[in-house]
Amino acid sequence: MNDFQNSAQEVKERLDIVETIEKYVHLRKMGKNWAGNCPFHSEKTPSFMVNPEIQRFKCYGCGKGGDIFNFIQEIEHIEFPEALEKLAKEAGVEIKKRPVNTRFSKLEDINATASEFFYAELHKYKPALTYAQKRGLTVETLKEFKIGFAPGRGLLYNYLHTKGYSDRVIIESGLVTDTSGRIKDRFINRLMFPIWNIYGKIVAYSGRQLPGDNFGPKYLNTPETPIFHKSNTVFGLYQNKSEIKKKNLTILTEGQMDVISAYASGIRNVIAPLGTALTEQQLDSLGRYSKRLLILFDNDEAGQKALERAFHIAISKGFNVYATNTGEYKDLDESIQASVSKTKRTLSSKMDAYSYILARKLDSLDLTDITQERELVDFHKETLIHLTDPMVREHLTKKFRKITKLNPGAISQDIGPMKGTPPVKTSGASSRDRKNTAPTDININDPETYLIALLIKIGDYKKFHSLNINEFTNPFYKEIISQFASSEDPSMRTIAESSAISDQAKQILTDIALRQDKIPEPKDPISSLNEAYMRIRMTNKTKKLNSIQRQLAIAEEENDDIKIDELTQQLLQLTSQIRSLDDKISRL
Ligand code: UTP
Ligand code: MN
Repeated sequence: MNDFQNSAQEVKERLDIVETIEKYVHLRKMGKNWAGNCPFHSEKTPSFMVNPEIQRFKCYGCGKGGDIFNFIQEIEHIEFPEALEKLAKEAGVEIKKRPVNTRFSKLEDINATASEFFYAELHKYKPALTYAQKRGLTVETLKEFKIGFAPGRGLLYNYLHTKGYSDRVIIESGLVTDTSGRIKDRFINRLMFPIWNIYGKIVAYSGRQLPGDNFGPKYLNTPETPIFHKSNTVFGLYQNKSEIKKKNLTILTEGQMDVISAYASGIRNVIAPLGTALTEQQLDSLGRYSKRLLILFDNDEAGQKALERAFHIAISKGFNVYATNTGEYKDLDESIQASVSKTKRTLSSKMDAYSYILARKLDSLDLTDITQERELVDFHKETLIHLTDPMVREHLTKKFRKITKLNPGAISQDIGPMKGTPPVKTSGASSRDRKNTAPTDININDPETYLIALLIKIGDYKKFHSLNINEFTNPFYKEIISQFASSEDPSMRTIAESSAISDQAKQILTDIALRQDKIPEPKDPISSLNEAYMRIRMTNKTKKLNSIQRQLAIAEEENDDIKIDELTQQLLQLTSQIRSLDDKISRL
């Protein structure tokens, strides 16, 4: 743990999240929880819940949730260091001030100095300026993004020298190459796009070839440096973040020219990763401004693959994901050059990404071919894996059936309500506004959720050792279980504060903490646990059964007798296992 984390921990120990939140939100006691009207979206019935035991909050209306720091950051619109400073003051915790890192600020300095140089050079070199104009970059855009030109020939290196930078800093900045002591400008004859961090500091560059020059890659980036890590930097976020927040929508494109053209045409909520696939860290930064993401990737096969991948990691981070495409135009930039109004229509005709991807697959696949049919099912399954909320899973499975007219089989775990558990009472609200009334009931029909909730409720963690963690399909449940199993003194709070556990798992724990009152007291906890576990095993076996049946159909189609025999054996074995499990469950 570093000093920062230590202070954060100390602050958390001294402050109570309920007291802190009460300074902003009027809270009422509701069972073990506190409830109030959510400060992050407008509502009339309270869906904002705080649980003191786990020291976390969650809004069942807008989905925002987290710990005391997340709350302060969100409500005060500040970053973590400022939130820490504020809460530390209240808690009387002294934070060891991180000394201004002179190494980092030197690197920020040198990048700023280089930008002055590049910017001036652009206006001296006609072909570069002409190219910039041809690409629709106006004087204002050039200024706003501080776009410049790198002539090469050691001119930057000399300039930096005269400005007093040492060779060590110049080399560390990545602006030059150093081959056994021969220092050269890295960027030669390129249009230079500064890359800004979210605090408005230039941390790197991306240089584009001028037309007719084929030396090196089309875009060349600064290599990784102490202040520049491609995987957590988002191009255009600094310039567009306020509009993203205002519109509550981030448009994700592939290239920086897309970002800049959009900005110039007044569309100011567009960003791009830096020539790599979207990463979780980039999504974490984006999530601070909006949890709604519209993906607009190139209209080719690579773009579609990238879309699927981005969709999956974004939903696992709790984003609402949409998609669209620019039709006849290769990318957003081309579409904007052709027509801004048409582009705006394209953007507003977005679909939810799940339906979009499925529809595209349906268009291109031949469903009489079972392997192609399987591609659809696989996509659906992969999607479910990335989702934690059983309601959303169910919703998508319904959608899948509706769109594809296929039955995804046992993947939706529709094996009826649990036996032996009393029916769950819904809260007093009418069914119309129940969705917005907290806390919604735990989905007790999902055995995995039920098992975890029950284990936490009865606190008999020794029981974990007899569970096979691989029987869980939800990766976040796996995380929670293994944390509980390996902790010396497990409690929801210590688990939720462990750094070894993902944000999604923390959210799930929060959910469970908030709904503890709603989980019916089982008459015999151990047998309820057993039953849930057997149901999970049952679901997994049913899934396997479905897959074998599919394979069997193929084998029969192909008259592959050996395969048919083998699969039939497996089928029989599985069927008998399922039957005996079923017997056991019904005897409980
Ligand atoms: P594209 O080749 O699609 O760029 O690469 P583009 O935006 O259409 O470029 P223009 O319109 O020809 O100028 C998309 C992104 O991939 C990265 C860059 O970040 C680019 O914006 N890239 C591309 C590289 O890093 N290196 C390359 O050689 C090419
Ligand atoms: Mn382009």
